[in-house]
Amino acid sequence: MKISMQDYDIMIGKHILNDLEAHINAIYQAHDIFIVTDDHVFDLYHEKVKSILKSYKVHFVSIKPGEKSKSYDVYLDTIEKLIAKGIKRNHLLIALGGGVVGDLTGFIAATLYRGISFIQIPTTLLAQVDSSIGGKVGIDLKEGKNLIGSFYIPKFVLIDPNFLETLNPREYRQGIAEMIKAGLIKNKALFDYFKTNDRVTEKEILMALDVKKEIVLKDPFEKHERMLLNFGHTYGHAIERKFNYETYKHGEAISYGMLIAIEEGINQDLTPTYVYDEVKEVLLNIGLIKEPFFKKETLDSYILTDKKHTSKAFHFICLKDIGQSVITKLEVGEK
Ligand SMILES: NC(=O)c1ccc[n+]([C@@H]2O[C@H](COP(=O)([O-])OP(=O)(O)OC[C@H]3O[C@@H](n4cnc5c(N)ncnc54)[C@H](O)[C@@H]3O)[C@@H](O)[C@H]2O)c1
Repeated sequence: MKISMQDYDIMIGKHILNDLEAHINAIYQAHDIFIVTDDHVFDLYHEKVKSILKSYKVHFVSIKPGEKSKSYDVYLDTIEKLIAKGIKRNHLLIALGGGVVGDLTGFIAATLYRGISFIQIPTTLLAQVDSSIGGKVGIDLKEGKNLIGSFYIPKFVLIDPNFLETLNPREYRQGIAEMIKAGLIKNKALFDYFKTNDRVTEKEILMALDVKKEIVLKDPFEKHERMLLNFGHTYGHAIERKFNYETYKHGEAISYGMLIAIEEGINQDLTPTYVYDEVKEVLLNIGLIKEPFFKKETLDSYILTDKKHTSKAFHFICLKDIGQSVITKLEVGEK
């Protein structure tokens, strides 16, 4: 199955990793391929990937797993290792891993030698349904998440759901959080699916990708509609930062963030009150949140010190109903 994103294709299917070499042959002439991955993914998959890319010389650079690797230090260190292994401007870089590897490697591809070709092979559910699509790449600073970054598109994205078989349940849930978000902002049937299911098939992955594709194609550089994808993320990022990216994973943090955004929508008379209970129940059942939930006021200071925001009032995404979202304004702190 192929989804066209205007400038690149997303290939999706079980066992599609076996076709990787053929897809690369179609776009790449040189002999060396450089792969950035993390230590878990390296242990699980480097031999398989190497055996598939048998006509290429494959060089791996592996980073420590986890959000802390989406940092300036790891960015520089990885670039230095790639250069030491001989990467040149005409070479191909592959991001093999979850959203951390994808965001970091994409940013390296965007900046090293003023831009080299790269492809995304997402190996977590979150990366398959969200982070590998749409061209946002970047790293975190201690002042906030994704503060250095770029828009940089891959040559193609290859999504093989077989990767998900080795993913642990907590990591799997992080992807479901982004799928619930996609359902809440644009596709009620996708949200409803999670009322009775906690595993996904290719069909639901495609539904989530469709939401992202539709939005990103309309507004690739996030001038307007793409902001909808940030539903739950303003307070989600604040939670991640408050706990130093350790206690809560991205999907868990945005799950609490989505509940705060729904409460805010109810306060602004935009969101019907039943939405809160329905979403809360699904998130609790999936295991993404636990009571007690966060109070918005305890997070406002992290919003105010988020360097992305130019003032105390900023764009904020609320729900008009399940499956319908809207861009509003939110003001935090003293008025
Ligand atoms: N660029 C975007 O548009 C965008 C969108 C959403 C999220 N993100 C970013 O994505 C990041 C989170 O990504 P994530 O949830 O994939 O986390 P992650 O990359 O840290 O991966 C989670 C864990 O799963 C392990 N793993 C990866 N694939 C595996 C596999 N197949 N089998 C077993 N273990 C495997 C990793 O080693 C890691 O320990 C955050 O930094 C977030 O900001 C980016």
